[in-house]
Amino acid sequence: MSDAQRKQIMTLSQFIIERERSFPYASGELSRLLRDISLASRLINREVSKAGLVDILGITGKSNVHGEQVKKLDDFAHREMISALSMGGECSILGSEEEKDIIRVASTSGKYIVLFDPLDGSSNIDVNVSLGTIFSIYRRSSESTDLEHQRKEALRKGLKQVAAGYVLYGSSTMLVYTTGRGVNGFTLDTSIGEYLLSHPDMQIPKRGKYYSTNQGYYSLYEQGMQDYLQYLQGEDEVTHRPYSLRYIGTLVADIHRTLLYGGIFMYPATRTAPKGKLRLMYECNPMALIIEQAGGLASDGRNRILELEPRELHERVPLFIGSEHDVLDAQSFLAGNGPYQGTENGS
Ligand code: AHG
Ligand code: MN
Ligand code: MN
Repeated sequence: MSDAQRKQIMTLSQFIIERERSFPYASGELSRLLRDISLASRLINREVSKAGLVDILGITGKSNVHGEQVKKLDDFAHREMISALSMGGECSILGSEEEKDIIRVASTSGKYIVLFDPLDGSSNIDVNVSLGTIFSIYRRSSESTDLEHQRKEALRKGLKQVAAGYVLYGSSTMLVYTTGRGVNGFTLDTSIGEYLLSHPDMQIPKRGKYYSTNQGYYSLYEQGMQDYLQYLQGEDEVTHRPYSLRYIGTLVADIHRTLLYGGIFMYPATRTAPKGKLRLMYECNPMALIIEQAGGLASDGRNRILELEPRELHERVPLFIGSEHDVLDAQSFLAGNGPYQGTENGS
């Protein structure tokens, strides 16, 4: 490896320290917080990569607050995130998809709150399809140890996040995060156990040619959504239609592709699930911060995700997220107005 190539290699830790100056609370806290999350993700990655070999596949027999079957890998990832974040000492409040209430960490001196989806894409665990972990970081606004007060602290608008990110356990394992100053992606080099900067300053295209939604629910969608899907499947060179449909069923994988290639991911409201399926606090908010920081948009179809006022830890919201011009088109169809007229055609 030449000196020039050697020079280019930057680990996640080196990157954070170098960028620390731009983080408002630059006293090494973010480094330690991301170090803890990175550790948990490497332990989860180790289990994910050998899940077929050890007794970690299948279900636990338990169900979570959402009434969903908890898979062994969900449970494992949940416990690894809690242990890494508790031991790290930077957090005093945690929130997990797999726990009904907030989790109060013994060392209450931690200044941060971390909300997370420990394992995203559970339905794909047993069939060897990409999975993910999603995290959302807030800074505490007090040192109160009162439970009610702490519950309220964990429910802040997505705009107040100080950092957000995801880990994608795919053909390679990647960690992508933002502290509100751009989006950067790191690929895990398992031979040295380090995340190395591989995707600096990620930007989402203004328009893509992929749409991503569970087309199986078509008959359950509202009219505007059905009209938009018909539009995307129509033929028109200027607006690069028909789009291609890609749907993995793991939010992290579908969003990562959307971030790199452009286009739109949608998990809309349906007649049977009027709030959609995805959770605001630890799926939609962190993904919205990342995509907005990369130059895209994220809404519930009408309102900006990051400005939604949360009411409870596990509340669900519809999600339309991705390239600016594609999300504007979707919102315009949902309002009954056809394609958005404000952007250059097919841009
Ligand atoms: P989780 O495994 O954390 O519950 O998340 C699953 C979510 C998300 O990853 C994905 O976008 C969505 O479920 C897929 O839902 P459908 O199977 O209804 O399409
Ligand atoms: Mn999920
Ligand atoms: Mn999950």
